[in-house]
Amino acid sequence: GPTLKEVAGKKGLRVGNAMGNGRTTFGDPAYRALTARECNVIVCENATKWQSLHPQPGVFDFKQADAIFAWARKEGLKRRGHTLVWQEDRWFPRWVVEHDFGAQPGREAERLLTEHITTVTRHFGDDIYSWDVMSEAVDSPTGELRESVLTRRLGGALAQIDMSFRLARANAPHAQLVYNDYMGPERGAVKHRASVLKLLETLKAKGTPVDALGLQSHVGPWSDLEAKAGRSPFLEWRKFLDEVTAMGYQLIISEFDISDRALPGDVAARDAGVAARAKDYLDVTLSYRQVTDFIMWGMADHVSFLRNQKTTMREHGMPTRTAPFDDDLRPKPLRD
Ligand code: XIL
Repeated sequence: GPTLKEVAGKKGLRVGNAMGNGRTTFGDPAYRALTARECNVIVCENATKWQSLHPQPGVFDFKQADAIFAWARKEGLKRRGHTLVWQEDRWFPRWVVEHDFGAQPGREAERLLTEHITTVTRHFGDDIYSWDVMSEAVDSPTGELRESVLTRRLGGALAQIDMSFRLARANAPHAQLVYNDYMGPERGAVKHRASVLKLLETLKAKGTPVDALGLQSHVGPWSDLEAKAGRSPFLEWRKFLDEVTAMGYQLIISEFDISDRALPGDVAARDAGVAARAKDYLDVTLSYRQVTDFIMWGMADHVSFLRNQKTTMREHGMPTRTAPFDDDLRPKPLRD
C-alpha cells in the first residue's frame, strides 16, 4: 500500500519519526530503512537535548546528532530540533542544576542560556526547519508555570521563556519556533490547558516569537473513558484548539503514540483498541488545517519509551503495543 508520507502528503501533512541512538533504532538498518520509507521528517529522540549536546560546562558534543541528521539529509528527510530547553530541573544536566551562579546569578543564568541556545542553533543553522524551543513549562497539577534552575535566576519563568524564544529567533531566523507540551483532551488536564492558553496569550502580547504549539499527543485512553461516562471527550479539546488557532498559532503533532492501557489482553483486540483511540483523536485534531506535521515518538512497539510501562505489564503480562509497527516492523492496524 501507499506509505504514510504519501497518505499524509495528500492532506498537506509531513510525517516524521523520533530517532533514538540505540542498537534497535539508529543502529538498526531495517528500522532506519522503515523510517526513511514512511517519513519525510526526522527528529532526534534524545540526541539534541541539552543533556546530550552540552553535557559539561562549556563542552558541546554534536557527534550523535550530526550522524542522525547526516543520514536524514542523505535520505531526503527534513530535520527538526527537540528541544532547546526542557523546563524541569531533572531534565537539565546535573552540572546546570549544581552550577555556582556566583554573585550575579541573573547574569550567569543569562550567560548559560545564551551560550546554549546560540551555540546549538548556530551549529545546525538552516539545516533545521523547526525547533522546539521550550518544552513542558507548565506544572500540570497546579497549572502554574514551572520554576527551574534558570527561571529562578532570570526573574521568573515568563522572562526566561521569552528570552529563550528571542535567542532562538535571533540565531535561527528561518526556523519555525515551537512551544511543545503534553496537555491533552482528558478532564484531568483542565488546568494544564488553561495555563497553556494563558501562556500563549501572554507571549503573543509580549511579541515573543512563537510560531506554533507542539501537541505532544502521547494519547491516553481518553475517548474510551469519556464514552463510558457518556460525555463527548473532545468538546473541550476543540475549544482549546479553536482558541490556539484563533491567536494565529500553527500546530504540530510532535510526539505521537497511543496508550494501550485498559484494553483487552489478546493482541488483536489490543491493537484494534489502540487504532480506534488513534482515530478518535486524529479525526478531531487533524481537522485543523493549521496542523502541518505528524511526528511519531518511535514508530515500532519495541523502541517506544513507553515499552516497559508497568501498568501494561501488570494488566496483561505483555509489553506495550503503542506504535504503528510491531517488534518485527510489520504494520499494525494503527498504521492504517
Ligand atoms: C523521552 C525519551 O523518549 C526517552 O528516551 C528519555 O529517556 C526521556 O525522554 N516528552 C518529551 C520527550 O518531550 O523529550 C520525551 O522523550 C517523552 C516525553
